[in-house]
Amino acid sequence: MSEPIDPEKLQAKIRQTFGYLEGALVSGMIYLGDELGLYRALAGAGPQTSTSLAETTGLDERWLREWLRGQAAAGLLDYPGEGQFELSAEGAIVLAEENHPAFAAGGFGGLPAQLAVLDRLPEAFRTGRGLPYDAFGEEGSRGIERSFAPWFRSLLVPLALPKLDGVVAKLESGVEAADVGCGTGVAVLEMAKAFPHSRIHGYEISEHALKLAERNRQDAGIENAEFHDARTDPLPDTPRFDFVTTFDCLHDMAHPQRVIQGIRRAIRDDGTWFIADIKAKETFEENMEENPMAALMYGFSVLSCMSSALSEPDGMGLGTLGLHEGLARQLAEEAGFTRFRRCEELEHPMNAYYEVRP
Ligand SMILES: C[S@@+](CC[C@H](N)C(=O)[O-])C[C@H]1O[C@@H](n2cnc3c(N)ncnc32)[C@H](O)[C@@H]1O
Repeated sequence: MSEPIDPEKLQAKIRQTFGYLEGALVSGMIYLGDELGLYRALAGAGPQTSTSLAETTGLDERWLREWLRGQAAAGLLDYPGEGQFELSAEGAIVLAEENHPAFAAGGFGGLPAQLAVLDRLPEAFRTGRGLPYDAFGEEGSRGIERSFAPWFRSLLVPLALPKLDGVVAKLESGVEAADVGCGTGVAVLEMAKAFPHSRIHGYEISEHALKLAERNRQDAGIENAEFHDARTDPLPDTPRFDFVTTFDCLHDMAHPQRVIQGIRRAIRDDGTWFIADIKAKETFEENMEENPMAALMYGFSVLSCMSSALSEPDGMGLGTLGLHEGLARQLAEEAGFTRFRRCEELEHPMNAYYEVRP
């Protein structure tokens, strides 16, 4: 016999479900605010009406009025009254300050490209085969760049690298280093800029990401960095790199163990491999209880991370919360690394960091 329906629980479930629809639509509005430069126009500008915002942005007043009202209703803008809307100082950091580590609006940039693959996913559920990152087009690669670049630009060189034993001294003296799964190359270029005597190599399998990486390199006028298509120009089979990084990509890889073995072959015996990957727990139950962003992470996983990790035959399919510390340690040991340290001193809401050495 089925259980009797509790009307209050039913109401709560309806509210919860529509809350997610609301979140999706507000996310779309954040995308528009970022894309159209509205948050940047509001930042530091004090209370604005739709008319004044239309004047500064050259956009249509009626559309802006509706968007502003929605943003105030969502609590993203303050509403002092009388048709005026204001972006607080904190809101400006999160929504308008592109290179601040707390900037979040860039993470919405890839949303249309990410959601555009939804109609291909029912087929993936039937066949088990996922989509590689290139399925999201150039916009998808740019979206990922905008999610991760604030950390690379503000914290990678000044905060993170000095925590690793002897790495900065080596990079300053001039060595070869590699960033595997480098996306559009922001980390590669930040390291290349900071350490002009070193040469930094980025390895990727996404054509869109590689194209944008090369464009970023040329725009920045950086000569000591280069990008390799890892499918045709893989990591060298002999120890060449003093420093290797993998940023938020091992859990996306179809065969991370092969890539890790490749890193071991390509790294010198006194080299360092620095991993950033999603702070995952060993069990689903722990992820549920201890990770306040678990639902978001599982959403990303189905849309992109697990999908990418299942995009090749026999893919490992780890997904967003699939590479917990124990597994990272195990894969590193199996590939011949002997030292593995979690960098507890590096705090991040989403990522854990590991210093791994042969
Ligand atoms: C979430 S993105 C992270 C990109 C970049 N590290 C960043 O932080 O912006 C994961 C990247 O891993 C790349 N990737 C997946 N499998 C790979 C492999 N076997 N070798 C190199 N890159 C790979 C994907 O194409 C994608 O660009």
